[in-house]
Amino acid sequence: MLIFYQILQECGGYYLANEFTVTPWEVKGRVDYMRLAREFGVQLITESEINTLRELTGEVHYLIRRGFFYAHRDLQSILNRQKSGLRWALYNGRGPSADLHIGHLVPWILSKWFVDKFNVDYFFELTDDEKFLVREGYTLEQTNKYAYENALDLIALGFTPDKLHIIIDSEDIKYLYKIAVRVGKKLTLSTVKHTFGFTDSTNVGAAFFPTLEISVAFLPTELYGEPVPVLIPTAIDQDPYFRLARDIADELGYPKPSTIYSKFIPGLTGEDKMSASNPDSAIYVTDSEKDVRRKIMNALTGGQPTAELQRKYGGDPDNCVVYKYHLLFQDSDERVRRIYEDCRAGKLLCGECKAMLFERIREFMKEHNERRERAKDVIEQYRISVKFR
Ligand code: TYM
Repeated sequence: MLIFYQILQECGGYYLANEFTVTPWEVKGRVDYMRLAREFGVQLITESEINTLRELTGEVHYLIRRGFFYAHRDLQSILNRQKSGLRWALYNGRGPSADLHIGHLVPWILSKWFVDKFNVDYFFELTDDEKFLVREGYTLEQTNKYAYENALDLIALGFTPDKLHIIIDSEDIKYLYKIAVRVGKKLTLSTVKHTFGFTDSTNVGAAFFPTLEISVAFLPTELYGEPVPVLIPTAIDQDPYFRLARDIADELGYPKPSTIYSKFIPGLTGEDKMSASNPDSAIYVTDSEKDVRRKIMNALTGGQPTAELQRKYGGDPDNCVVYKYHLLFQDSDERVRRIYEDCRAGKLLCGECKAMLFERIREFMKEHNERRERAKDVIEQYRISVKFR
């Protein structure tokens, strides 16, 4: 047990020096992603994993190729299972406390690619209990309502009901509870406090909650009656749950979950992460076209102060939020390359570049909202309770 604590402390726990903090509930300061990976004890994605993915699928998703998904835990073991024709599943989730910003869609866009390429089952947890327990000022009815709203956005990405299985914690607890109590017995209060930064005034509901996020990682094994490890594509803030899950999996007789981690989509106004407290830093799926345009047009760029200087010296796409959004939402490598080169050469002005981004996001959101409307009629078909009784 002592070794376990030392490892946790060496991994950085939940708090990293003074410069930045990354926890499942808070990202503060300028994140040094390489250092975060080192301190969390996760591996960087290397050519080896990229080549295996390419061998297996014929291509590698641009979110991985462009380094947005950059780290992992034991991705190789999932790829090996795939090579051997053995079953695995995908797992993701969302804490429903508000409408989604487009950053939330990014891990699910990659999940869609995995489902399409590997024909795997996709388990998705909506933690209405978590958001009720950890956020001040929400009733359980409100977070539950957001669970349904957020589920529509997930379904709108194009998943079919035979592959996507949605779990709403407050309604589908019977699928998780037996696993959760076993998980709970393996985790001491002290471990949970260290890992998540809980204190003596944290409510006991919040302290128990991690067992539920961990449980879904083990659920496919229970449902299929054979070892079915999961791959979890998420931003790196969720790592503490899955580090613990991996620590206790063997003892509970479950396969260890694997993960693939992204960086955070930066706020449009320069923050390292889109933030709910500054609505202009994020584009919400419910924003009007007018709001999206205004937010993009006000975004921070790596451009020169005047058009004349921009033409003369070129801009700095490597330090430009607008360019980062192009990298995340333009799937054409050729278009992204042209934007980069034209910016550096001073041929592309920031206003034009923002207009191109607005056009792309407008198109994405228009399609998304049409599909979201249609999802309202079919949401029940995606519930885990319809598929697994
Ligand atoms: P939540 O609702 O905070 O976030 C949902 C997912 O979105 C990712 N994310 C981001 N990704 C890129 N850029 C951003 N700016 C950004 N902000 C958030 C998060 O990493 C997460 O993947 N406790 C969880 C819900 C949950 C879950 C899971 C998440 C339950 N089971 C399994 C991932 C995997 C939560 O509150 O997520």
